[in-house]
Amino acid sequence: MPRLDERLKTVAKQIRCRVHADIGSDHAYLLKALLTAGRIEQGIAIENKVQPWRNSQATLAGLNADVRFAEGVLGLRPGEADSLSICGMGAATIVRILQTAPARLPDRLIIQPNRCPEDVRQWALESNFHLIDEQLAIGHWPYNILVLQRSSETSDPAYPNQNPEIQVLFGPHLLKRRDPRWLALLNEEFNYLSKMPRLTKQATDRRDAIQKVLKM
Ligand SMILES: C[S@@+](CC[C@H](N)C(=O)[O-])C[C@H]1O[C@@H](n2cnc3c(N)ncnc32)[C@H](O)[C@@H]1O
Repeated sequence: MPRLDERLKTVAKQIRCRVHADIGSDHAYLLKALLTAGRIEQGIAIENKVQPWRNSQATLAGLNADVRFAEGVLGLRPGEADSLSICGMGAATIVRILQTAPARLPDRLIIQPNRCPEDVRQWALESNFHLIDEQLAIGHWPYNILVLQRSSETSDPAYPNQNPEIQVLFGPHLLKRRDPRWLALLNEEFNYLSKMPRLTKQATDRRDAIQKVLKM
């Protein structure tokens, strides 16, 4: 079984179902680990580039997995998978993939954007997926792992009414939990931004938002 790094280990802990699909599987270590640990019965690996697709085929040979060459969610039939992961990509790419064919998305999504998790939270709020959990994995960088569940309710109970922008920017679960490792990262970012002689409007807004969170 491939040893997963902290990032993919944290993702794997959120997955237990019959059929799981991983978009952008590349080396396919996540699916192999899930299959060999018995956390899933069947895996679907989806890749849109040749070498990563070959990598997935090699890793998953002999396991109960389907390796598909396809463009994101278009490689999946509606209702085929119980859950789906997209990991290790920028948030803009992830949101583009999620928006392509919403009807093909399973009800449970595990998403690990490399940057800007707020873009995924915003997409979820607009798409009737509730943020049921969010974990922080400290690996090479700090990574956010978002767990989303489709809901018929439009309003997500994870979000309190006050400070909606701050809630989307930092994540309601992380804000509530106030993990010391997360606060230390915010402190570090705040000190870095405070020492900069000049800041863009966006960076100034971010520094001020972090300050608000640290004072909460
Ligand atoms: C940086 S790798 C991440 C690999 C693995 N998911 C991980 O987290 O370690 C991103 C992979 O996503 C694939 N990819 C990017 N956009 C895709 C899309 N629209 N459909 C399928 N695969 C995609 C790339 O080919 C690449 O192999």
